[in-house]
Amino acid sequence: MAKYNNIVILTGAGISAESGLATFRDEEGMWNKHRVEDVATIQAFARNPEYVHDFYNEMKKDLIKVEPNAAHLAITELQKNYPAKISVVTQNVDTLHEKAGNENIYHIHGQINQAVCMNCGNVLTTWNDVTTEDVCQQCHVQGMFKPNIVFFGENLLCMNEVDALLRSCDLFVSIGTSGVVFPANTFVRTAKYYNADTIEFNLKATANNYAFDRHVIGKAGETFPKFVEELLQETKAVADI
Ligand code: APR
Repeated sequence: MAKYNNIVILTGAGISAESGLATFRDEEGMWNKHRVEDVATIQAFARNPEYVHDFYNEMKKDLIKVEPNAAHLAITELQKNYPAKISVVTQNVDTLHEKAGNENIYHIHGQINQAVCMNCGNVLTTWNDVTTEDVCQQCHVQGMFKPNIVFFGENLLCMNEVDALLRSCDLFVSIGTSGVVFPANTFVRTAKYYNADTIEFNLKATANNYAFDRHVIGKAGETFPKFVEELLQETKAVADI
């Protein structure tokens, strides 16, 4: 008999930091090197689609090389050995959760290896460069692909499914997110409202600090596998009674 039946794990850039990827708002973060207004808004894309495509095509070249770390792998370990429904809701556009073998993954901010046709909605999955020259294989219109990255001001993806998960989970875990971006930073309060236990894994206290029952401070690659081990031991202990 497991303590939890329905676990939601929200991840942010911090879970990928130990794989060598920059976060967004830390010292060496992405937004200290690039302006959000130039690469992460729909206005930026309308103004200069080639520049925005180039930015994400370059990011793709980095992301295809990186490997998941112990925190990603611990999620797979939990999903394989803990008798509960375990969903991963990620703000990250990298594919490290997939590479680690995680299942039930919801990319609410999109995915770096996808582009979406703004004419017909066709989603192209490719690690190759996407440009304004590309022709959509579904509607045969040229130059209508945009990176399948949710820009500031756009609606998140998978929100109906995520909302249902938040209302039904009994454990909400947040790993490596600063909790400053809406609406992902409200998820913990929804889970709490529906009586979930809430735990935050981060290097330090975050903007959402007050909303969590428990804070585990440290590198996710160290702290989260330890937590998974604890949960699995608990379940084993109960099973041995
Ligand atoms: N282990 C745990 N936490 C870490 C680690 C680590 N090894 N390294 C960094 N962190 C934490 C930082 O303390 C910070 O709280 O990860 C968090 C990263 O915060 P952000 O850089 O703001 O990234 P994130 O929260 O994912 O940003 C959310 O903002 O710009 C948008 O779309 C972008 O998805 C992104 C969203």
